[in-house]
Amino acid sequence: MCDTGHHHLPARYGFLVEAPEIRALIAETQQVIRTVRSDAERVEALRPAFARLLTTDGWLPETCAKPDEASRMGGGIGQYALYRAEDGSLCLFSLVVPVGAETPVHDHLAWGIVGVYQGAQDETVYRRLDDGSDRDRAALEVSKRHTLKRGECYTLLPPTDDIHFVKTISEVPSISIHLLANDTACVWRHRFDPASGAVTPFRSGYANAPCQADEQKAEP
Ligand SMILES: [Fe+2]
Repeated sequence: MCDTGHHHLPARYGFLVEAPEIRALIAETQQVIRTVRSDAERVEALRPAFARLLTTDGWLPETCAKPDEASRMGGGIGQYALYRAEDGSLCLFSLVVPVGAETPVHDHLAWGIVGVYQGAQDETVYRRLDDGSDRDRAALEVSKRHTLKRGECYTLLPPTDDIHFVKTISEVPSISIHLLANDTACVWRHRFDPASGAVTPFRSGYANAPCQADEQKAEP
């Protein structure tokens, strides 16, 4: 668990990691959600505060900055919840991608802003050529590729540019920080195989917090 002692139950919602920098970003995001109407304007309004978080040292605990060998995404990729709104409307998490590893091709299903905190990533974005009516198949082609270094970010505005994968290209694991308008790791999303066109349901899970369905399953 991130930043939690052994003496009390770890938080599952709210601030899973206590840091003034995280509290400041979530407060700013809540303010933007209240005052800005469109998702496109919201992500733009959040860029300065988000870039500040990415270039500030010391707020991300070691426990949320390491690979996760039990990763459901494969490749030792660690996904750690830092903040989760209990109603599933907002989350902040870190994603640790080991050297040379890459995520599956996946979607997000919510607006958001993502940026690099450590190392460097290549992002490959796909455009969907079919109308999305077949649940099990998607025709994808690469629409853009870019490299992101510390402090650089991109925005997510589904359905445009919502399907991508990232790969670490630095000699240290890359760490990206993700602010999204859902509970990303617990939502059923999709992973894609661009070569065969196959689409499969995908839920990545957090390494440090259970999703609700898992908790119910775990209880007798
Ligand atoms: Fe992603």
